[in-house]
Amino acid sequence: MGKDKTLIKGKVHYVGVNDRTKHLFENMWPLPYGVSYNSYLIDDEKVALVDTVDACYFDVFLHKIKKVIGERPIDYLIINHMEPDHSGSISLIKQYYPNITIVGNKKTFDMIGGFYGVASEQICVAEGSTLDLGYHKLTFYLTPMVHWPETMMTYDATEQVLFSGDAFGCFGALHGGFIDVRINTDMYWDEMVRYYSNIVGKYGSPVQKALQKLAGMPITAICSTHGPVWMEQIEKVVGIYNRLSLYESEEGVVIIYGSMYGNTEQMAESIAAELSAQGVKNIVMHNVSKSHSSYILADVFKYKGIIVGCPTYNNQLYPEVEAMLNKIAARDIKGRIFGYFGAFCWAGAAVKRIAEFIEKNKYEVVGEPVEMKQSMKPDTYEQCEKLAQAMAEAIKN
Ligand code: FEO
Repeated sequence: MGKDKTLIKGKVHYVGVNDRTKHLFENMWPLPYGVSYNSYLIDDEKVALVDTVDACYFDVFLHKIKKVIGERPIDYLIINHMEPDHSGSISLIKQYYPNITIVGNKKTFDMIGGFYGVASEQICVAEGSTLDLGYHKLTFYLTPMVHWPETMMTYDATEQVLFSGDAFGCFGALHGGFIDVRINTDMYWDEMVRYYSNIVGKYGSPVQKALQKLAGMPITAICSTHGPVWMEQIEKVVGIYNRLSLYESEEGVVIIYGSMYGNTEQMAESIAAELSAQGVKNIVMHNVSKSHSSYILADVFKYKGIIVGCPTYNNQLYPEVEAMLNKIAARDIKGRIFGYFGAFCWAGAAVKRIAEFIEKNKYEVVGEPVEMKQSMKPDTYEQCEKLAQAMAEAIKN
């Protein structure tokens, strides 16, 4: 890749890498389209590297760096985020560029010591600190808990480029091009919602604080650590992060259920059919034993209504549903409406346990929970339909 192919604007180059090998991000979240680890090199009077990449890709990374700067040394390594998908190559960079100065905030340096034991020249920045590279003038903004405590953003006032860390990122590797103007971005929008809901979802309030900090700042390019560089579609990307961090939802219902032999599943089917009859168009049914929680979370972030149901298992919730409920609760999602149902063979517990979960997390409930013994009866159909009707009315209001 020649220098011209890596150029974004000014003296800012893309030197990130694609991971099409890993199956699970954070060993949890599926990567059907891969993921990119983005890094940026500013080839100015002083050379600065913004974040690194997963250590597995260091050879490719170093090759890309050298394509841009040849044998020139890198003066600064700016660390916006310390999660190892970005910080993993710090030790190796330090080996190849021993005189490099690492730029981070106080919390960054605590983590560099803890993870890598790297001692280096360092510049510890605070909110609003600046760094002059010659042509590019950088300012640092602390954005804690988006989604780690040390997260910060770097803004270049010269070309109005924002290096945003994970913020505005998405799953999905890059196919040749990396700037939104030059690529088909269709696949990234769903992957952005899934990335946000899986990785950042709990931290709506810190994301809002970060967005407020950026408000009014002229931005012509967002260079995040995952996914395309945003130039043409900045407004759309910021809008998605704004809506998700406000926990805004669309009219629709996610039905999350577990079923061992298909009886509980028939409750879910009955509820879904009645929701549709009531005019609800967006209905997503997830069998927790089949759908990965990553996709279920994305839908929970999308839609206002959530209906949960499962059989009783060992006098508790069906374990796959319990795990799913815990993942939802961990994201502190707001403004959703819950309905629920459950089944049992000889002693009922599922409905009681879902009720306890809902009470503990203070979720708004709609309709009467439906409890079924063994299989569907005429009154079970009727109760499921009533629950669906109550949900349809609630989400439309
Ligand atoms: Fe992409 Fe929070 O690391």
